[in-house]
Amino acid sequence: MPTRLPIRQHHLRLCRIGLLSVAAIVVSPAANNGCPDRPVRSISSSATPADVCIPDGFIDVPVNYFDDYAWRAFLAMVWPAAPGHRGMADVKKPLGAAGPLVFETLKSLWEVFHEDGSAPASDFQTYDSAAHNACQVKPQFGDLVLASFSGIDEIGQAGAGELAGPLAAQNGRYVRYQTLYNQAAFDFIVRNRYYLRSALPEVPSPRPTTPVIEFPVGSLVLKAAWLDMAGFPAEQVKRYYTRRAIVRDPGTGACSRVTVGLVGLHLVQKTASRPQWIWSSYEQIDSAPPSRFGDPVKFTFHDGGKAPMPAENPLSLAPLAPEPVTPFNVERPFFARVHPKTELTNYQYQELLKNTVWQYYGIVVTQWPRMEGNQALPVPATQNGDITNTFPGAGAFSAFSNVTMETFDQSRPQLGCMSCHNQARLPADFMWSVLDHAYPAKIAPAPAAVRNKTAQ
Ligand code: HEC
Repeated sequence: MPTRLPIRQHHLRLCRIGLLSVAAIVVSPAANNGCPDRPVRSISSSATPADVCIPDGFIDVPVNYFDDYAWRAFLAMVWPAAPGHRGMADVKKPLGAAGPLVFETLKSLWEVFHEDGSAPASDFQTYDSAAHNACQVKPQFGDLVLASFSGIDEIGQAGAGELAGPLAAQNGRYVRYQTLYNQAAFDFIVRNRYYLRSALPEVPSPRPTTPVIEFPVGSLVLKAAWLDMAGFPAEQVKRYYTRRAIVRDPGTGACSRVTVGLVGLHLVQKTASRPQWIWSSYEQIDSAPPSRFGDPVKFTFHDGGKAPMPAENPLSLAPLAPEPVTPFNVERPFFARVHPKTELTNYQYQELLKNTVWQYYGIVVTQWPRMEGNQALPVPATQNGDITNTFPGAGAFSAFSNVTMETFDQSRPQLGCMSCHNQARLPADFMWSVLDHAYPAKIAPAPAAVRNKTAQ
C-alpha cells in the first residue's frame, strides 16, 4: 500500500516510546513544534504559509498536513490583490471578492522569457512592454494575456520538456496555460540571467547530488489553466471563477477580450523543509466524471454520454485545428480518484467557502518528497524526485495528475508531477519552464502531437 510506510516505521515508533519517559508520552502542545495534531481549518488568512506544519515526531503518511498546507496556499493565491501592488493581498477584502487575484498579478512567463532573449524589466512591480507579448498589449494592473509567438506554447499540454496535444472543452475551445512566478523566483532568474541559456550552468560529469541552480526558499511558481467560457449556460459558468482575458487566436493571430474561467491550477513552493518544492494541484470540480457525491452536474470536459475517454489524445498540436473543434470526453479513471483523505479536507474547506465561488474548487493531489521517520524534519536537497521518493508513489491508487493539464497522464504514475519534473532537477531545480524557455527557447511539439499530413 503506497500510503503506508514500511513496517519498520512502526517498530521505530515502539522503540521511541520505549526510550521516552512516561511524562513525555503525554505530549503537550508546547512540547512539540507548535503544529497541531489535527490541522485547524481556517479561511481567514491571506498569507502564504511558509511551510507545511507537521507535528514533531509524526511518522505516518502526512497527507492531511500537506493538504491543509495546500488549501492555505491556494487561498492566499486567490485572495483579491491590493490595487496596484503585484503579488500583494488586499487584507480589507474578503475571499471571493472581485479580482484581480494575487496570483494573477505575479510575473507571467512572457515577461520573464522574451522572444529575443533581451533582459526582462527587472522591477517586479512594473509590467513589461507591449513588444514582448504576442498580443502587443501594454497590460494594465491585473490584466491577463494568454498568447505566445509560436501560437501553440500556451495551448499544448506539458510533456517531458516538450509540448503534448491540446485539450478542448465541450464548447470546442482550447484550454490555455499560463505560468507565473512570485518575486523570489523572478528576482532569482533575473539576477542570474537565467532567461539566457548561456547563463545556465552545465550539469558537470560526474553528476552532482544537488541541482546546479537552486531557487531561494519562498519561491513560488504557478501554472494556471484557463478556458474561454463562450457557449456554456450561465448556471454552469457561475460555478467558475471568471474574468476578462486577452486571448490570441492561434490561426489568425488576432487578439480579443473574452471571458475565461479558471479550470485548473498548479502551485509549487520551495520551502525550508522541502527543497524539492511542495507540489499542489487544484481543479474546478465540474471538469470530468465522476461528480462529487454523484451530483448531476454538467461537465465541462465530458458530454455526459457513454463515449469513453480516448486512450490517446485525438487532437494534434501541429497542425492545430481552428476553434471550435470537436471535443472528446475526459474522465478520471477509477484507479486514480482523488485520495479519500484529500477529499475530506476539500469538503471541510468547501463548507467554509460556501458563500464564494471557491467552494467549487478542490485539491487533486499534493506531492512532496517522501522520507522515513519523523516527517517534521526537513528533507535534504540531495534527495531527488524519483517516484519512490514521492507521494503517492509507484503503486499509486489515487490521483497524481490534473485532468485539465495532464489529461492523458492519469494512468502513468511515473508521470506524476515530481517524477516528470525530476528530469529538470539537476539543470534547473525542477523548473521545466526555465529549461524550455531560456533563450534560445527549446520547446517543440512532441512527435505524438504532430499529425503527419500524408497519414491523415
Ligand atoms: C509529463 C511531464 C509533466 C508532468 C507529469 C507535470 N508537469 Fe508540470 N510542467 C511540465 C513542463 C514541460 C512544463 C513547462 C511547460 C513550458 O515550457 O511552458 C511544466 C510546467 C509546470 C509549472 C510551471 C513551472 C515550471 O516547472 O516550469 C508548474 C508549477 C508545474 N508544471 C506543476 C506541475 C504539477 C503540480 C504537476 C502534477 C499535478 C505537474 N506539473 C505535472 C511537465 C510536466
